[in-house]
Amino acid sequence: MKKEMVIVKFGGSLITDKSSDKPKINRLHLEAIGKILNQKNYDLIVVHGAGSFGHPIAKKFGIATGLDGSHGQEKAIKETREQVQELNNILCNYMNAEGISTASIAPSSTMTTNGPKEIIDFPFELFDRALKENKIPVTFGDVTQDEKQGISILSGDILMMELTKYYEPLYSIFVMDHPGVYDGDPNNPDSKIKSIINIETIKNLNSNQKGADVTGGLVGKIECAVEMANYSETWITNLDLLKGFFDKKPLGSKVVL
Ligand SMILES: Nc1ncnc2c1ncn2[C@@H]1O[C@H](COP(=O)(O)OP(=O)(O)OP(=O)(O)O)[C@@H](O)[C@H]1O
Ligand SMILES: [Mg+2]
Repeated sequence: MKKEMVIVKFGGSLITDKSSDKPKINRLHLEAIGKILNQKNYDLIVVHGAGSFGHPIAKKFGIATGLDGSHGQEKAIKETREQVQELNNILCNYMNAEGISTASIAPSSTMTTNGPKEIIDFPFELFDRALKENKIPVTFGDVTQDEKQGISILSGDILMMELTKYYEPLYSIFVMDHPGVYDGDPNNPDSKIKSIINIETIKNLNSNQKGADVTGGLVGKIECAVEMANYSETWITNLDLLKGFFDKKPLGSKVVL
């Protein structure tokens, strides 16, 4: 029998120390991910973000807004791609250490974009092939070749959206450092997790996350997630709660239309 599918994105806020201006991993979370993903009941696709691998340098050199022709930016593009690829290697190594086979799919060498929100030539065949070989495809936020602006930052959140539209998995799950979306500032102990969110949630979000990272932070994620809810049960959650999904006990913030 064909297995049901789950698509998971591990945010940069989870697998790295996002407050660091230099690349820094969160080793405990990476180790835990390898253990949690070691299950045989579902076909999985993994996406991950960049966190402190990529975001700081991309911000400094204006990579999100496209090529500016400067030598400094050219070097920064190369360095950003190296950093996100390094983070991908690290995550895959943690998964491989648990006996999970992975197939890494780097957007910078397999996809072209038309602005940061549109992938022109999504290589579904690479994902299909990996799944057929019983490997977990692992793709990630990266700097792509772009038709409109020369280069773009393709976020893990947009990759999640494209994959979800195509595969219509049982669950599409954004895993970040908080157990869902709070009704106020995450640093305020009175804030509570919203069990259901929709596009209206964006209007009422605490202002301290706006422009949080080069790909729109939580706002960009909720925009993608609401679109995905047309195709899959979509959730925003944390790593502790992720295990429950494999027993069909989802928890966190459920995204609805
Ligand atoms: N109301 C809120 N509820 C939950 N998180 C919030 C809220 N307001 C701001 N945040 C911040 O949004 C962050 C999640 O979005 P962000 O894009 O930074 O993370 P990510 O997607 O995990 O990282 P990356 O983009 O590197 O993959 C959380 O780490 C948190 O600090
Ligand atoms: Mg983000």
